[in-house]
Amino acid sequence: MAIEQDYIDTHPGSARLAARAGAVLPNGVTHDSRYLRPFQIAVERAAGSHKWDVDGNDYVDYVMGHGSLLLGHNHPAVIEAASAQLARGTHFGASHEMEVRWAEEVVRLVPSAEMVRFTSSGTEATLMALRLARTFTGKPGLLKFTRHFHGWHDYVISGSSYAGGAVPPGVPDATLGSVAVVPPTMDAVRATFDTRDDIGCIILEPAGASSGTVPIPANFLQDLRAFTRERGVVLIMDEVVTGFRWSPGGVQGVEGVTPDLTTLAKILAGGFPGGAVAGRKEIMDHLAFAADGGSRAKVGHPGTFNANPLSAAAGVACLGVVTNPDVQSQAAVTATQLRAGMNSVLCGMGIPGVVYGQASDLHVIVGTGTVPEAADYHPRSLSLDVLEKGNDSNTLRMLQLAMLSRGVHLFGASGFVSAVHTEADIAHTLEAWEASLVAMRSEGVLAG
Ligand SMILES: Cc1ncc(COP(=O)(O)O)c(C=O)c1O
Repeated sequence: MAIEQDYIDTHPGSARLAARAGAVLPNGVTHDSRYLRPFQIAVERAAGSHKWDVDGNDYVDYVMGHGSLLLGHNHPAVIEAASAQLARGTHFGASHEMEVRWAEEVVRLVPSAEMVRFTSSGTEATLMALRLARTFTGKPGLLKFTRHFHGWHDYVISGSSYAGGAVPPGVPDATLGSVAVVPPTMDAVRATFDTRDDIGCIILEPAGASSGTVPIPANFLQDLRAFTRERGVVLIMDEVVTGFRWSPGGVQGVEGVTPDLTTLAKILAGGFPGGAVAGRKEIMDHLAFAADGGSRAKVGHPGTFNANPLSAAAGVACLGVVTNPDVQSQAAVTATQLRAGMNSVLCGMGIPGVVYGQASDLHVIVGTGTVPEAADYHPRSLSLDVLEKGNDSNTLRMLQLAMLSRGVHLFGASGFVSAVHTEADIAHTLEAWEASLVAMRSEGVLAG
């Protein structure tokens, strides 16, 4: 296995650390998506669009902090703000101005945001959004869509690629029973509401399942908004990935569809841990203590690191930069160039597959479907069958190993392009892509 051997030969330090890690961390990893056989890379430092592993290998990075780093690693404004905050203190156990400024930025940028509550992650944000929706409507159930990912807590894990099977282990039946998972069609939504009256909210990834890997149909957001408004159902847009990336106001800023609640994380905190629920004051008010001792139900929400000063300072700095739509456009232009270039290579080599995406994201399917024309593809232009089938797991593993050995770190079959990826990065990635496909073909992983 030349591809695997090549990877082993060029990553001895990562192998050593992975062996140590395996003794104390299940699989040696701390996030399921980092698991890779024979072992994962161990990174030592990063800057801009690059990172370097413990063996000194240099990578063009498309993981980009799982999508947090629209501005690249160590953006000067973010680092300066975080460093200044570090010197002033990292936890005051009290309110502080940075959290107010952070919330003001969210309200200014995100159309649905009237009020904000910070959490420590996107998972916590969706958990809180659902609890708020249940409290507001008095209904315990929720509807989510097939493959849409909203973090790993019990209410959203079913129907996602991290579920660990059709019935996710460790989740109580009662919890699973409160969740309807349906395909993203209005027929499926209507049919569910026709047969269940316990559902008070709908949550979705507004660009489509798994960061836009499988798109939702055209006009679905608009139709869903009209339906939920008519039925008094709380609509939650999970913009953890798309927020501040699709536009300064996320997908809702582009589509002109305003949900009741929005969940945010990733870019929100500029590469530090942080999340938020933002939305209609009427719903968010359930987090408030009633000054008049009134009867409105109070949703409890502690959280040691909510709006911690370090994340808040980094977040304020980051949002101050991404408010300029040139940032999102720059990343999207580079991503378009990359997707088109990668398709040209597939086309030139006669290899079936496709590289597609929206805004500054990137999804790769290789070895199945048809040979693409040399073009950039929006997911809606592609066959749902091909998108839903995705990659064969061994083909994807070999692609990851081959690309890593050639200095490119993809995020599984996806990637996030930042505003600081350069022409040279794209040129290097295209060379690595072509060489990887050649290697995969010569090893019989790809036909032809
Ligand atoms: C759409 C979406 N929602 C929620 C989450 C969970 O966020 P976190 O990993 O910060 O818990 C993610 C994480 O990737 C996500 O992509």
